[in-house]
Amino acid sequence: MRAYSGERPEQLPVWFMRQAGRSLPEYKAARAGTAMLDACLQPELASEITLQPVRRHGVDAAIFFSDIVVPLKLAGVDVEIKPGVGPVMGAPVRTADDVARLREHTLTAADLEPVSQGVALTVAELGSTPLIGFAGAPFTLAAYLVEGGPSRDHLAARTLMHADPDTWRALTEWTADLTGAFLRAQVLAGASAAQLFDSWAGSLSLADYQAHVAAGSARALSHVADLGVRKVHFGTGTGELLAAMREVGADVVGVDYRIPLDEASRRIGGSTPVQGNIDPALLSAPWSVLEAHVRDVVERGRSAPGHVVNLGHGVPPTTDPEVLTRLVGLIHSL
Ligand code: CP3
Repeated sequence: MRAYSGERPEQLPVWFMRQAGRSLPEYKAARAGTAMLDACLQPELASEITLQPVRRHGVDAAIFFSDIVVPLKLAGVDVEIKPGVGPVMGAPVRTADDVARLREHTLTAADLEPVSQGVALTVAELGSTPLIGFAGAPFTLAAYLVEGGPSRDHLAARTLMHADPDTWRALTEWTADLTGAFLRAQVLAGASAAQLFDSWAGSLSLADYQAHVAAGSARALSHVADLGVRKVHFGTGTGELLAAMREVGADVVGVDYRIPLDEASRRIGGSTPVQGNIDPALLSAPWSVLEAHVRDVVERGRSAPGHVVNLGHGVPPTTDPEVLTRLVGLIHSL
């Protein structure tokens, strides 16, 4: 939390996006026979899975085990997570009528109770290790809703924002408030920081980001603005968007592996802490190759006021968990 505030603690902190998940045999055992979204909504199970990587790797933060589409599910939207595929909608949301119907779904504090309970159980177990709460950004959620599932270029979503800007705005204001409520529930239940994942924002031009997306992300983050937690903003392929992503109200900018941290820090003005950006592909390279890369990431990160080491995207399921544990030791030694 001190690094998120722009300080330089004695030890460089590290956690990994998707640290809970299929790289861990104990995760596979705990999840066996339970669908992904059902697991997210069982507070004891979600808490146990959240704690697994903290116990195993000694990382400096937990991230709550959940998913960006959990608030959609809790609001009654027809969504499931298909293994190896990702979130899939019962029907895509493409027209003004589709959006009007979607907006009839509401999300109350009572609906969010499984999330609040999972967070509270986890925080009680974690002791001094902080828990990071998270949510999907309005654009990334809207991209899943409009496309109906994962897509490469998010063509239908990007078409909609230009073809019918009013419908796009109605959609992203709704996703902003939904995801903001999910984030707020986690912070109120004890999460120490809040990360907004705009995973697919990298498919946008800077002009489109500013005209059609930034306001929604600012609106989502505003739901936790009064709670005094640091807000982290991350996306992939966002080299051109980093400054704009900070401007929506982020205290820390997460950087993917495509741009070096010193350059990322320069682009965001040099006074904002950064998080990142070990290339996940190198987790399966020989240790000497990985170590040289990590040392370079850490060195470049020194140009920012604060640095929380992480990957440039999630842990691949094929990762040997012992490599992650060894990496934590290396990073702490630096
Ligand atoms: O450890 C953590 O990082 C916390 C848990 C977490 C999950 N999803 C668990 C999960 C977090 C932070 C997320 C966020 C999420 N979900 C994002 C943003 C981060 C990113 O990766 O860019 C996105 C885009 C999603 C949507 C989603 N959910 C995808 C693309 C997938 C992967 C599909 C697959 O099977 O490859 C999921 C499923 C998912 N979410 C899994 C986990 C552990 C895998 C579920 C399984 O075990 O089958």
